[in-house]
Amino acid sequence: MRKNCIFSLFFATIMLVFVSCNRETPGLKDVFEKDFLIGTAINPYQVLGKDARAKPFIVKNFNSVTAENEMKWERIHPKPGVYDFALADSAVAFAQKNHMSMIGHVLVWHSQTPDWVFLDSLGKPATRDALLARMKDHIFTVVGHFKGKVKGWDVVNEAVNDDGTIRKSKWYQIIGEDYIEKAFEYAHEADPDAELYYNDYNNEQRAKREGVVPIIKALQKSGLRIDAVGIQGHWHLDEPDLNELDESLSSYAALGLKIVITEMEVNVLPTPPEVYGADVQQQAKYLEELNPYKNGCPDSVETHLANRYSDLFSVFMKHKKDITRVTFWGINDGYSWKNNWPIVGRTNYPLLFDRNYQPKPAFYSVIKTAKEK
Ligand code: G3I
Repeated sequence: MRKNCIFSLFFATIMLVFVSCNRETPGLKDVFEKDFLIGTAINPYQVLGKDARAKPFIVKNFNSVTAENEMKWERIHPKPGVYDFALADSAVAFAQKNHMSMIGHVLVWHSQTPDWVFLDSLGKPATRDALLARMKDHIFTVVGHFKGKVKGWDVVNEAVNDDGTIRKSKWYQIIGEDYIEKAFEYAHEADPDAELYYNDYNNEQRAKREGVVPIIKALQKSGLRIDAVGIQGHWHLDEPDLNELDESLSSYAALGLKIVITEMEVNVLPTPPEVYGADVQQQAKYLEELNPYKNGCPDSVETHLANRYSDLFSVFMKHKKDITRVTFWGINDGYSWKNNWPIVGRTNYPLLFDRNYQPKPAFYSVIKTAKEK
């Protein structure tokens, strides 16, 4: 009798393990196949196979990839005349091999651009003409290198402040406001088939949107190619307001543009509101009370996150005819930049998959939302 009992228990355990191993979750990209591309940011650690689980996971869940850092100016063009394409090439090869769209990130940005770009050989500020020539060389070389392999480029990143005024970056100070038009002009010349995007954070909020829309209209008036506006989507449990997001998606679509959500995640940690955006330069001080889930995310927070993702995806599904891609900024919680920004050394849980690549409640809520629409 006792023997039978032990055998039954053993059999039940084996079955449980078998069933759970075979309970295949659907690939995220397949759930949204008819709606929009599903992308992720990737890094060399994953692409070069140092994390053996990463590549099959990416291939299963995503059909678009963006190099998180490897195409930024400081990485790809660190010194005058020196281009280093090695890591970006591996990302592109991975995308091509697996029939995923490769997104180019980023050509012109105030951040992660070496100081020399803005200086002459004597260390004085470069002239407008010299900086335009440098921008053109960079765009022609980088876009030219990936011609036919990159589906679309974030041409200009984060040119507007949260209050809607133009960011007084070195690009703006030296060239003037038409640096944006020039960047789009050069990118189109370098690869006439590539899609071109203006990409920013907080631009789903009214004030910033009111600064971005005139820039887009000016590009369109000049006859320049712009395919989509990128909304980065570095979001929180309590921001953005869903009505404001909805309104912004309608406003951008009304310009005749597509919309791409380019860097999405939802922060779950207490965070001072003054560092709610995604300005890499900002930092806040580490305090124990701002890092409350070091040993695991409470179920209540995972549920809150799942509801939030569901709400956000409901808005996306409402606008699916205008949205062409939703890209997550990282493949799982362990890879998210939000573990180190705006406060270094915290444990955050902002994505759909946990540190062990397991789908979280937010994953299932997103799928459910897709199926209901
Ligand atoms: O790779 C080096 C490593 O060798 C070194 O030991 C370590 C120590 O500092 O730094 C590592 O590089 C860091 C890199 O991330 C990879 O982790 C850089 O310092 C750090 O600045 C870099 O941060 C990136 C940030 O942009 C600045 O480029 C984040 O990964 C990346 O997620 C973030 O992405 C930006 C988008 O490009 C634009 N929109 C906002 C978004 C979030 O800031």
